[in-house]
Parts: sequence; structure tokens; C-alpha cells
Amino acid sequence: MTTVFVGIAPGLEHALAEEIQSLAQRPVQVVEGGVEIEGDVVDAAGLALWSHCAGQVLVRIAELPAASLEQLRQGVMKVDWSQWIHPGQTVEVRVTKIEARLGRTDVITKKVERAIGDKMRSARRRGRPPRDVVQIRVRVRGKRATLSIDAGGPSLHKRGWRQATAKAPIRENLAAACLMAAGWQPGVPLFDPMCGAGTFPIEAACWNDDRAPGVERIPPITRVPCFPAKTWQQMLAEARTGGRDGGVVVGSDRNQGAIDAARANAKRAGVAPTLERKSATAPLSTPVQGPGLVILNPPYGKRVAENIELAPLYRKTGQALRLQFPGWRVACVCPEASLAGHLGRKMEQVARFSNGGISVSLFVGELPAAGQARSG
Ligand SMILES: C[S@@+](CC[C@H](N)C(=O)[O-])C[C@H]1O[C@@H](n2cnc3c(N)ncnc32)[C@H](O)[C@@H]1O
Repeated sequence: MTTVFVGIAPGLEHALAEEIQSLAQRPVQVVEGGVEIEGDVVDAAGLALWSHCAGQVLVRIAELPAASLEQLRQGVMKVDWSQWIHPGQTVEVRVTKIEARLGRTDVITKKVERAIGDKMRSARRRGRPPRDVVQIRVRVRGKRATLSIDAGGPSLHKRGWRQATAKAPIRENLAAACLMAAGWQPGVPLFDPMCGAGTFPIEAACWNDDRAPGVERIPPITRVPCFPAKTWQQMLAEARTGGRDGGVVVGSDRNQGAIDAARANAKRAGVAPTLERKSATAPLSTPVQGPGLVILNPPYGKRVAENIELAPLYRKTGQALRLQFPGWRVACVCPEASLAGHLGRKMEQVARFSNGGISVSLFVGELPAAGQARSG
């Protein structure tokens, strides 16, 4: 057993923690930018396969004293690298440094790379080494260093289905974490009136069907020498059987190109949310049974539709939603509470994170039932 770190954009750690705790059925510890959980390489592969919210999965290899470069080098030389690296395999080291006096990051990186290389030089090669590069992460904090291996791979948020994009798409794992943070659960009706390339509806539809987000990827941890043989094939086979019968998921957008992209993505994902071209200020052609969750990631004015006035758009969208979805919850990803306040009542900021370099929040509130005032 070691520590497995699961990462996400800072600000969404609690949503991730809820998911990882329920997947792993054991306590997790929330840390900055993610959660830590006791586990092994198989647990790490399982989280890379099943987590919707994870943006990164690392397995801790060692924790070492690092008061000086020489002390760090000696510690790195003591690690049994043959468990993690095949002889002859290429290794890439990435260092982050917090309040440490070890000198320049590139110097530390070279030192660690050389120490691993020295240690592996004597290891006997058996056949050709795998072609993938082993990614080692070194985090130096004060006088200690943590060495980890990237278990899930660098693009864990990608599922493979989002090949068509519209304007300013949200990362799949951030969309998943917003769904969790908004209190959505599989089976709850969902509507995104500004769905763009369909990220929220497709992610939710896949979750409804209990599809593993990682079935199209092979996590690098499954290729390390210490990973038990045949286990990944069994995990994949299990992930590909079973599944549930989904719930109602609907997406709409005023842009035909976005709807075309969402349809193509949904087809690739093997799900069939209802997708309709319409303005968010107009009603859906077919009513949806609720209550459920309306979630949307409207234009911010920075990346999408610079020339439109945002407050009237949010206000009119809120009016249309209240007419057609009374009693539903509403969640909005946008930079300002004043904009989100136009959509529903009691809009609370439940998370703040960076979406494509823009600081945004997730606001969650209610769409009042007919006759109830919109306030608060
Ligand atoms: C930030 S993007 C949403 C991205 C989406 N979450 C994704 O991951 O692809 C905002 C979307 O709102 C849509 N939009 C803007 N004004 C709209 C309106 N009045 N009615 C419906 N959609 C609108 C745009 O076409 C764009 O696709």
C-alpha cells in the first residue's frame, strides 16, 4: 500500500473527494488540488478507469529527505526503480518546488534524472523496452521531496468522444465535478440550455449508463513492471459489461454548429441525449418531467460572444427557465455572482476554479415554482 493522489483544478477538490470516496469505499483526505487515498497500483488504475472528476492520478513512490541536492540524489538512488521502469525505457522528470532551497528547478530535474539513469544502467534488459515515456513527478517542499509516477497519463480528462468542439468547451472532468458539486446524481433529469459541444449532457448520459470514462485509454500505471499481469484486461472486461439504463438528459444551443458537434460527440460516446437547436430564452419543444437540474455554462463575455450584452441574456434565460422548469435546481458556471443571480433564486457559490485560464464559480440555486417571488 502506498498513497494515491487524485488531482483536479483547485477549488473542486470536495466534489472530487465525494466521488473518489464512493468509488474506493474508503476515506480520502482532501489536499490542495486533489485528494489522497491509501491504495496500490491496481487502485490507481481503477480510479483512472472509473473516475469522472479526476484530472490526474499519481502513485507515490517515495518520500525522501531533501535538505541538499546530494541528499536528494542519494535518496533517489535508494529507490527500487526496477518496479517502476523497464530497463532502457525513457524517463521524464518534472519538478515542482515549494519553499525549498535546493536551487533551480532544471538543476534538480537533471540531478534526479541522472540518479535514476545511474540506478537503472546496471539493470538487465529483457527484450525491447516499452515505447511510452515514464513520467516521474518530484515535489520538493521545504526539506522533503515526494516522488510519484503519473499513473493515469497526462490527458485524463479526455474520454475520446469529444472530437468535435464548439466555442469555449469546458473540460470533461471539470463538467463532471460541477455536476457533483451541484448535487446531481445519475438518474436525475438534466437540461443544459447552452450545451455547446454537449459536454454536460454527454458526460451525464454516460454516467447515467454507468460507463467507465477511461475505457478507451490505457493508463500508464498498467504497464509498469510491478503491475500484476492480466489485471487490466480483467478490469476492462468488467467495465465493458453491465451498465444501467439512463435517465432523461437534454441539451440545447442556439448555434447549429454546436448542436451538430454535440450530436457527433454523443454518437461517438454511444449515448443519445435529446439535443435541440433553440435559444435559451425560448421554451424546449418537448417538455421534460422533473424536478431535476438545469446546468449551464453561458458566455462570459471573454471568450464567447464578446459583442453581446450579458446581463439581458442571463435575465431572459432565467425568465424562460422559471416558466418551463419550476421547482428545478439551477447551476451556472460563470465569473460573476451578479450574472448568476439573474437565473434563479438563492444562488450560492459552491466552488471557484479556473476554466481555461478564467476564474469562474459554480453557483447553485433554485428555479422558483410558479407564483413564488424571485429573490435572495
Ligand atoms: C461557454 S459555451 C458552452 C460550452 C459547453 N459547456 C461545452 O462544453 O461545449 C456557451 C454556449 O452558449 C451558447 N449560447 C449563447 N447564447 C445563447 C442563447 N441565447 N441561447 C442558447 N445558446 C446560447 C453558445 O452558442 C455557446 O455554445
